[in-house]
Amino acid sequence: MAHLATKLAEANIAYHTKDAPDLTDAEYDAFKRRNTELEALFPHLKRKDSPTDQVGAGPADGFTKVTHAVAMLSLSNVFDDEDVGEFDGRIRKYLGLSADAPLSYTAEPKIDGLSLSLRYEQGQLVQAATRGDGAVGENVTANARTIDDIPHKIADAPDILEVRGEVYMSHSDFEALNARQTDAGDKTFANPRNAAAGSLRQLDSDITRARPLRFFAYAWGALSTPLSDTQIGAIEKLSALGFQTNPLTRLCDSPADMITQYRVIEQKRADLGYDIDGVVYKVNDLALQSRLGFRSTTPRWATAHKFPAELAWTHLEAIDIQVGRTGALSPVARLTPVTVGGVVVSNATLHNEDYIAGRDSKGAEIRGGKDIRVGDWVQVYRAGDVIPKVADVALAKRPSDAVPFTMAEVCPECGSAAIREPGDAVRRCTGGLICPAQAVEKLKHFVSRSAFDIDGLGAKQVEQFHTDGWIKEPADIFTLRARYGVGLQQLKNREGWGEKSATNLFDAIDERRKIPLHRVIFALGIRNVGEAAANLLALHYQSWAAFSKAMRDAAPGNAAWDDLISIDGVGAVMAQSLATTFQQDAEWASIERLIAELEIEDAVRPDTSHSPVAGKTVVFTGTLEKMSRAEAKARAEALGAKVSGSVSAKTDLLVAGPGAGSKAKKAIELGIEILDEDGWLALIGSS
Ligand code: IVH
Repeated sequence: MAHLATKLAEANIAYHTKDAPDLTDAEYDAFKRRNTELEALFPHLKRKDSPTDQVGAGPADGFTKVTHAVAMLSLSNVFDDEDVGEFDGRIRKYLGLSADAPLSYTAEPKIDGLSLSLRYEQGQLVQAATRGDGAVGENVTANARTIDDIPHKIADAPDILEVRGEVYMSHSDFEALNARQTDAGDKTFANPRNAAAGSLRQLDSDITRARPLRFFAYAWGALSTPLSDTQIGAIEKLSALGFQTNPLTRLCDSPADMITQYRVIEQKRADLGYDIDGVVYKVNDLALQSRLGFRSTTPRWATAHKFPAELAWTHLEAIDIQVGRTGALSPVARLTPVTVGGVVVSNATLHNEDYIAGRDSKGAEIRGGKDIRVGDWVQVYRAGDVIPKVADVALAKRPSDAVPFTMAEVCPECGSAAIREPGDAVRRCTGGLICPAQAVEKLKHFVSRSAFDIDGLGAKQVEQFHTDGWIKEPADIFTLRARYGVGLQQLKNREGWGEKSATNLFDAIDERRKIPLHRVIFALGIRNVGEAAANLLALHYQSWAAFSKAMRDAAPGNAAWDDLISIDGVGAVMAQSLATTFQQDAEWASIERLIAELEIEDAVRPDTSHSPVAGKTVVFTGTLEKMSRAEAKARAEALGAKVSGSVSAKTDLLVAGPGAGSKAKKAIELGIEILDEDGWLALIGSS
């Protein structure tokens, strides 16, 4: 996930700020989707700088900045027909609608351009801004005024009207532009999207004027008066006000209908004359849209159904094993390089031994049960994954001497036994601290951005210091100056280090001796304990002393254990990982050596004075009639409450709907305040 965050951040800058993408769209989607999958599987590993929380990249230098009155968001993606039904299902569940309740959606092409927000005051275009990072974009008003599809003045408009849509370039205009660029000896553009972006973001608006840009309106930001009460009505209204809207926009009343419109649009794709990369579905009823609201960067009420990515056949040359921070042995396919959708692919993830054997984590067949062998011809698939996956194997072409893959039973890095525990698909090295691969990966994690984040000490430096024996464990980082810093000579002798960088490094390390508790917990790199979990643990225990004592004591069934798993978001698996780490002598000794070097700041619980439920622990039980559990939870959390799944002495409030059972009983026993749904809504001021 760290790798993905870096990759995606770099890709965002290349794409949004420099207009020179270094990944194809399919590859970018693949990275992003992989990250989303990982976050769904391991919510506690979600990063502070998670790519799912980021939209685009910040503004480039040269334009003034515009803070959007209403954030400009991104869209979640779905990739196949089944996902469309699931999207509908999630929405119904959130809204508490039955499967047969009427619910309609718009379906429209997803234009492959760049989004623009146009602000009209009293009908006059006063500002045009790019999306930027979603919160702050670039002021490109002068350039937007040169686009024919963008009216400068509109009659009968609301006093304040922010129209949002996509700036794009048609295929014919793109080709003509590239021909002119070639004639003039200027650089040509890779695709219409880059040409549109590069043209809109010209500091000289005369250049933009000479570039034939177009604009489709499909959304809005701030409004003094609503445009309509439906999405389709709002689009019609935008059209009536003089904006171009996409003629392939349709109202659909079921997922089947949406998929039909997807196919219609897909079929027309080649003849549209401009690039589209999928179909966007939006809940039609705007009141429902507002109830559904947003996740951190994407609306719940919309999604993009992307067109499929490409496949290619190549030769599987070898299967290598990589050892990760927690000792997981990961098989990686080494492929004869092949181009898939414009990108050269030479590695593919093979996940684990079951995957190679043709079984998923539940033992069900994948790839029709075909196993993967070195020497095989494999079909590589690049939609929705970071590292490509192997979609298929050509059994007819399998060499006669190809042998079934067998997983190493000893760690290739340290020779310790590699063991697969029951219920775990992954084989893990048992070498712990003696395994150099685990040690290096742990150290890399320790210095990563969300952990100690030491300037000048990145993955590369850590790896080098480890190889040379300067740093074996995290504590060694903090004794570097004492051991090698005198006169700086030893560090200066190393390649890549000079007087200044050496001094800076030692200073940066010292600066990090004082560090918040949650960062320390996260930095330890304990299996199953990600950033979110580290935050929860820090807030719960507040001090290192309390936290470490509890982890030393915790054992299934005792008070420390019960207290640990009472934290919403901490389960038995994570608790076991924590206990194992803290109770293993060598690990604990290593942690103590580290802690001796640090001054750990206590965690402070957030200010609880604003909302009536801030800081309170709320439990929902029984049937809620006005909203789903998910909506109730999201609203309570937005008001600063902590939502827990079980009633305990720490519960402040139980919201009980019809059918509440044992939880209500327990709450009565414990004397906890109980409200019905209406009482709850009255309390939070939205009855
Ligand atoms: S709606 C709150 N509709 O896709 C959601 N976006 O991946 C607002 N895009 O940032 C977006 N065609 O630049 C919407 N018909 C369409 C679109 C569309 C293209 C772009 C837009 C957005 C990105 C998200």
